[in-house]
Amino acid sequence: MTTSPDDSYQDLGEFHDLFMTAPWDRLRPALRTAFGSLDPGATILDLGAGTGLGTRTLAAVTRARIVAIEPSRTMRAVLTARVADDADLAHRVTVRAGLLPDALDDVRWPAAGFVCAHMLGHLSADTRAATFDRLRTLLAPGAVGLVTVEPDGTEAATGTLTQERQIGDLRYVARYLPLPDGNRYVSEYEVRDGELVLRQERFAGTWEPLTLDQLRQELAGTGLSARPHGDGAALVSLEPHP
Ligand SMILES: C[S@@+](CC[C@H](N)C(=O)[O-])C[C@H]1O[C@@H](n2cnc3c(N)ncnc32)[C@H](O)[C@@H]1O
Repeated sequence: MTTSPDDSYQDLGEFHDLFMTAPWDRLRPALRTAFGSLDPGATILDLGAGTGLGTRTLAAVTRARIVAIEPSRTMRAVLTARVADDADLAHRVTVRAGLLPDALDDVRWPAAGFVCAHMLGHLSADTRAATFDRLRTLLAPGAVGLVTVEPDGTEAATGTLTQERQIGDLRYVARYLPLPDGNRYVSEYEVRDGELVLRQERFAGTWEPLTLDQLRQELAGTGLSARPHGDGAALVSLEPHP
């Protein structure tokens, strides 16, 4: 199986997790309303689960089982350790290696829902279409998917975002710089001991921002539809049969 031929998170993965706590705290209410009433026999797919902060947040608001799919070996190592270290997560969460859309071939119908957070912009439009096409066949009637979306063009961030975290004696600084074309970005990380910069790493990646309107356009005619669901998120569900 193809897992990650070009793993852009191989080195970035060391730092990414440190700056995802606030985004997941913001998504928690939306996760609870979407998945909080599922029963323990249901399965939710966490697509591009990363290091599992979202998987853990999801598990805290639902009794359902979770299949967490992640292609990057670095990200998956943290995800697997996070799951293995907690008895409840180890009981309910299955970690699978794989790239979308092919990784969905290993998933059994029915899925009671899915989460696709902070990752759709990594996929090409063709890969997104193939992923949603496969998801459509996996979803149980009434299932919903929670997808993060970008603010529309007028509100999209253009400046550098800086975040900091203290871990022990060292300070981790992240700078996220969108490039003018909007489809590429650079992220920089520094590890500092006081004024001394111990390490500095810079990563260039691709990211195609996807707004709710664009998502709706991409889903038109697929049998799926999207509607807003809280701050920066949308719910994707099967359209009723005519
Ligand atoms: C920004 S991280 C977000 C991780 C996690 N969803 C979160 O919000 O914390 C994006 C993740 O998408 C994964 N990813 C990228 N391309 C993918 C693909 N084709 N299939 C599945 N996951 C993919 C990356 O390996 C990475 O872990």
